[in-house]
Amino acid sequence: MTSAHVPVLAGELIELGHPGPGDRVVDCTFGAGGHARLVADRIGATGTLVCVDRDPAAEERFEELSAEVACDTRFLRMDYADALELLAAEGFRADLVYLDLGVSSMQIDARERGFSYSYDAPLDMRMDPSQDLDAREIVNDWDERRLAQLFRSYGEDPNARTIARELVRRRAKAPLDTTAELVDAIEGALPAAVRRRFGGSSPAKRVFQAVRIAVNSELESLDRALPAAWSVLAAGGRLAAISFHSLEDRRVKRFLAERAVGCICPPDLPVCGCGRTPEAELVTRRAVGPSPGEVADNPRSRSGRLRAARRLQEEPA
Ligand SMILES: C[S@@+](CC[C@H](N)C(=O)[O-])C[C@H]1O[C@@H](n2cnc3c(N)ncnc32)[C@H](O)[C@@H]1O
Repeated sequence: MTSAHVPVLAGELIELGHPGPGDRVVDCTFGAGGHARLVADRIGATGTLVCVDRDPAAEERFEELSAEVACDTRFLRMDYADALELLAAEGFRADLVYLDLGVSSMQIDARERGFSYSYDAPLDMRMDPSQDLDAREIVNDWDERRLAQLFRSYGEDPNARTIARELVRRRAKAPLDTTAELVDAIEGALPAAVRRRFGGSSPAKRVFQAVRIAVNSELESLDRALPAAWSVLAAGGRLAAISFHSLEDRRVKRFLAERAVGCICPPDLPVCGCGRTPEAELVTRRAVGPSPGEVADNPRSRSGRLRAARRLQEEPA
């Protein structure tokens, strides 16, 4: 079963990304095309919209959108870092590049894909179903130290070691094949008093996030995509990113802030000796979050954080 994905921070993305008639735009995370549709309306018949996603389900949605909008469209089914590097090599220049990170509701609600701890399904979690690595391999083959490190660094889970130990104990008897078995092992690792602290939320949430990030190499892709996105921007073009956890937001924040730094000479030097000028103007000084109304309408938007910057000069060819 799949459901509609409600685009997060959509009005803010349009306001701060500022797409206009004739613009060339890259949507790095097409999903169900919610943001893309709004952008297509703004850029009109003379605009170009390149859409990227590594999930074949997104490509099906793209076909529908492409038939309905006036602008030129193109779909690249691949990792967005590869797509941006390809566009840069083609000499493509964009007025707006944006990323809406993480998983879509379509993916979470497709029970059989194993993204959700709420449904029993095979341990999968691949955004690109043709890739080899899946959640089952991580949960059953990674050693205890590596699992604990994964849960700590990508899930920020304070119970990382205890959970890793329990997974290794259980899989020695029989491999863990399903999301329900993983949830059961996580819950079984924690004393009742610790489990009670989670209230309405699941103690499996952080581990699922960590495994999903690892399966899909999400942070490695983001680290490669940010410089590639920057290099395809035309002068005055904007880069915008919507993050859903601090591991992503920290990377986006640091990347944009570094580009906005100008002269780094000591303040008492009478003339600049470093010759450094800013490459970027920050469009958002602080991350922009959803309004209370958006959170009420779409609770999945709660952790969304949008940052954007404008490129001042194009990269020399
Ligand atoms: C939050 S959803 C995007 C939703 C979309 N903005 C909309 O309005 O429907 C994120 C999408 O990005 C895709 N994605 C995540 N990481 C990716 C990557 N490294 N390369 C390509 N696509 C990626 C996922 O498959 C998913 O469809």
